[in-house]
Amino acid sequence: MDKLDLTIRHGTVATAAETTRCDIGIVGEKVVAIAEHLPAGARDIDASGRYVLPGGIDSHCHIEQLSGMGIMSADDFYSGTVSAAFGGTTTIIPFAAQHRGTSVTTTVADYHERARTKAVIDYGFHLIIGEPTDKILNEELPAAIKGGITSFKVYMTYPKWKLEDYQLLEVLNVAQREGALVMVHAENDDMIRWIAKHLIERGHGAPKFHGVAHDALAEAEATHRIIALSRLLSVPVLIVHVSSPEATNTIRAAQTFGAQIFAETCPQYLVLTAEDMDKPGVEGAKWCCSPPLRDKAAQEAIWAGLANGTFQVFSSDHAPYKFDATAKIPRGDQTTFKEMANGVPGIEMRLPILFSEGVLKGRLSINQFVALGATNHARMYGLYPRKGTIAIGSDADIAIWNPDIEQRIDYSMMHDAVGYTPYEGHVYKGWPEIVTSRGRIVVEGGALKVERGSGQFIVRGQPGPVAATQTAKIDGPARKLRSLIR
Ligand code: URP
Ligand code: ZN
Ligand code: ZN
Repeated sequence: MDKLDLTIRHGTVATAAETTRCDIGIVGEKVVAIAEHLPAGARDIDASGRYVLPGGIDSHCHIEQLSGMGIMSADDFYSGTVSAAFGGTTTIIPFAAQHRGTSVTTTVADYHERARTKAVIDYGFHLIIGEPTDKILNEELPAAIKGGITSFKVYMTYPKWKLEDYQLLEVLNVAQREGALVMVHAENDDMIRWIAKHLIERGHGAPKFHGVAHDALAEAEATHRIIALSRLLSVPVLIVHVSSPEATNTIRAAQTFGAQIFAETCPQYLVLTAEDMDKPGVEGAKWCCSPPLRDKAAQEAIWAGLANGTFQVFSSDHAPYKFDATAKIPRGDQTTFKEMANGVPGIEMRLPILFSEGVLKGRLSINQFVALGATNHARMYGLYPRKGTIAIGSDADIAIWNPDIEQRIDYSMMHDAVGYTPYEGHVYKGWPEIVTSRGRIVVEGGALKVERGSGQFIVRGQPGPVAATQTAKIDGPARKLRSLIR
């Protein structure tokens, strides 16, 4: 065997499928050897007592992006990717957001430019489709897909991004025709607007009322509706940031009878609750995200959905908005929940929370952790097997976890640019110590080891099945419709 550039030896290697005690050999950017014993490479890492895992993939994060409300996120592609890497993530798929009146082609070029000189780990993009005109549907989306952007997010809420059901069907139809995956933010906009208006008229503008306005029924209704639209055309959809028991059960039921419904949840729905929004003044704005934080029973339902496979992917939905006039509190202490940027930061805390509360507390196996944090993202979004696993020929994207390190969260530990963490004071056990990306050591000894701009854009392939056995099932009504409308 040629001399290995890097070896990681004596660790416990876990993939989504199995856990083994073995050594890993890396040459250049790739894993080239996996064996019980390998000779030390030019650089040798002793991973005794550590888990050696595929680097995480975070397929839902908002980086250097203008929100639907027109608010710029605090993290650019440098701070966002550095923060991701310190949390054990080696690939991110943030959004290139198309706003009404702008073209997809210009949007994509713009986001490439933002990321190219700053990202320290690899990245792709999903598109947010704000305005599905004929030109966008028939020319610009197919071109973006050919350029490796094989997934789009659509919104059922937010005034500037909300699509009507008719428009959602148009987007689903393009996804079917061109081989892309549609991600959906499922909340009923009219319910939320109506409740919010009446709350604010009565002086209930404090952050905790954000949770009241975004009632779980608004999420449940929209979830049910997008499932019906998806089944009508037999087009897979992935429902993002699921927060409530009812939406989870609706998704589970649809999956059980064979509908191609996939789902994502996020760390905030596991360890935070609506009580976090109930702070003096406008402080609770730091915990306002959509869908909102719910209660302990909802947390349990989300954990159950992670364990039983209702959720395929666990993402951060990192939405980093500063607690100042630029984002969370545009009118200072007079700001109502309707005026606050929605979202919580969490790109760095995503995997440590799942490891600590999932694996170490016995709710998930280490293999489920890998599947939910990396492998299923790679399969779902056309990155597998280059990313999301440890196998010969895969990119050497690896996170070495020490399960014994326990830390109390303090914002000074974070590497993002937000200025606060919603997990302040929480205690989590198990942290990534060394992180590699394409064979380069990115994080070691608490320090960043790579240059800004050294991450690469990854051209993604077509979305694939999560499980090897999973095949597209076509509902009866869809089959009939397809034979009539091609
Ligand atoms: O509140 C959230 N989730 N903000 C980020 C934007 C989105 O809808 O995912
Ligand atoms: Zn969303
Ligand atoms: Zn989001």
